[in-house]
Amino acid sequence: MLENVHELKHPIITHKLTQMRRKETSTKDFRALAEEIAMLMTYEVGKNFPTRQIEIETPIAKTTKAVIDEENFVVVPILRAGLAMSGGVLKILTAARVGHIGLYRNEQTHEPIEYYSKMPPNLSEKFLLVVDPMLATGGSCADALQMLKDRGAKNIILMCIVSAPQGLKKVSQSHPDVPIYTAAIDEGLNENAYIVPGLGDAGDRIFGTL
Ligand code: PRP
Ligand code: URA
Repeated sequence: MLENVHELKHPIITHKLTQMRRKETSTKDFRALAEEIAMLMTYEVGKNFPTRQIEIETPIAKTTKAVIDEENFVVVPILRAGLAMSGGVLKILTAARVGHIGLYRNEQTHEPIEYYSKMPPNLSEKFLLVVDPMLATGGSCADALQMLKDRGAKNIILMCIVSAPQGLKKVSQSHPDVPIYTAAIDEGLNENAYIVPGLGDAGDRIFGTL
């Protein structure tokens, strides 16, 4: 296992992912499952989130307790498929900001092509959670991470639902400073650079564009 790769082997996450993988799963269920898995992954990843002590008053007494500075978090979905995950992350980090990166893979070369980006200001001071359900060749995530670093981001976590070993290797070699959390590490890639067994084309299944 690569040092910065963390496979979240939680039975509930795995159960929901098995439902996502089934080819008969509807668009409605697929989208809901992606959101639920992202929410559960955020809960697991959140074990390591920094907290800060503040003074509060309960109806009974004054006390000092921990909070997370949610406004310092930026969820970054890689369009389109990442959008289904950002909804789940935002169910937990409700005050987080959102930055969007539009990338699609060229169908022949499988190279990522950027077509959109809009980020909140002061990225260097923020804690970024980049989300994309599929890490296949790793090209899209590696490019997205580089783009964010070029704009000043320093503190980044990547969350993917299904990953191929090739993609994990590529991203962890080009971005060793970025922890990668994935719900599953699959066998590999087919001749069209789709993850095997995977779950098919995540964007098409989320948005019903098959
Ligand atoms: C998918 C997926 C990733 C990328 C993974 O997006 O959501 O972004 O492919 O492949 P890679 O690791 O080989 O780069 P896609 O390009 O199909 O765009 P879409 O989300 O708009 O459908
Ligand atoms: N993109 C997807 O949506 N699925 C794959 O298996 C590979 C890339």
